[in-house]
Amino acid sequence: MPNKIKRIAIVTSGGDAPGMNAAIRAITRQAFYKGLDVVGVKEGYKGLIENNLMQLSLRSVSGIINRGGTMLQTVRCPEIKTKSGFDRALSTISRRGIDALVVLGGDGSLKGAERFSAAGVPVNCIPASIDNDIYGTDETIGFDTALNTAVEAIDKIRDTATSHKRVFIVEVMGREHGFLSLQVGISSGAEIILIPEVGYRFKSVASQLKEYHRKGKSSLIIIFAEGLGDPYVLAGQIEKGGIAEARVSSLGYIQRGGSPSARSRFLACCFGAEAVDLLVKGVSGKLICLKGKKVDTISLSEASHHEKKLNMDLYALAKRLAS
Ligand code: ADP
Ligand code: F6P
Repeated sequence: MPNKIKRIAIVTSGGDAPGMNAAIRAITRQAFYKGLDVVGVKEGYKGLIENNLMQLSLRSVSGIINRGGTMLQTVRCPEIKTKSGFDRALSTISRRGIDALVVLGGDGSLKGAERFSAAGVPVNCIPASIDNDIYGTDETIGFDTALNTAVEAIDKIRDTATSHKRVFIVEVMGREHGFLSLQVGISSGAEIILIPEVGYRFKSVASQLKEYHRKGKSSLIIIFAEGLGDPYVLAGQIEKGGIAEARVSSLGYIQRGGSPSARSRFLACCFGAEAVDLLVKGVSGKLICLKGKKVDTISLSEASHHEKKLNMDLYALAKRLAS
């Protein structure tokens, strides 16, 4: 049965991701179209605790579709996990007449949203993270942008690797997961992809590098997912083993910033509108997700209690194609 939602609040939480602004715009405009009022929460869950909100309007979200980061800003906010922090956030929600939340963020933010949902606050979530590690969705907002940024950077690194016949170890973000690393590796034609889901042994890396040299490859790129630890240890081992000159290039936060790709913006527009439409229909407690080419939903509790699995067929394909 449709409920009487009049005012929604948008929260951007966890690490920023390119496309969050495009989603804020989509949520705001779809909400206005449906006759709702919209406020933005500043700095993630902290803004709910501290009653730090801003009124949003059709014009206040103009000119942001192409901007990285989040105009609402975001912080990691451990206080929301405490009873007193959570109660203060609930009190802001009730005092400011907020009927529902739309939360954008990664897997941690989903867990926070699930708590609000369990406390009776209607909330829908939009997956936004460069890591693409959220169960239930094929893709998160921001992933495609980070992928393109990383691939573009590696194309440049390849020039030096070829000219100097060096091995480059390129560190890619992704926390404890290798989703971003795997697609970056495949799309940049990297020779070796090292990810936490598989792990690595130096002996095996060394023999692969030697084999590539034997086959006549002059540049060798190793993608090293950040969750594996220190890439300089591997670089040291490669040089000590007399295999080649080795360099580490950490792509770091350039992967998280910049203008969102068309795909990240498009996903943000579709996800944002869907999150609002569902709330208006009285459907909440959902993660908006992409399944194949379709925008779909799964429950927040299912999404936050399952681990997304890496596609090992893709991992095997990457190995074959790098030969
Ligand atoms: P991301 O959402 O990008 O994965 P984090 O893991 O840092 O980033 O989570 C973002 C925020 O979500 C945290 O700073 C915290 O406010 C909230 N959060 C994370 N885990 C929980 C949890 N178990 N319960 C409640 N809130 C959580
Ligand atoms: O979740 C996005 C991400 O960039 C991860 O890839 C990375 O491990 C982490 O955030 C870095 O977090 P912080 O911004 O707190 O340094």
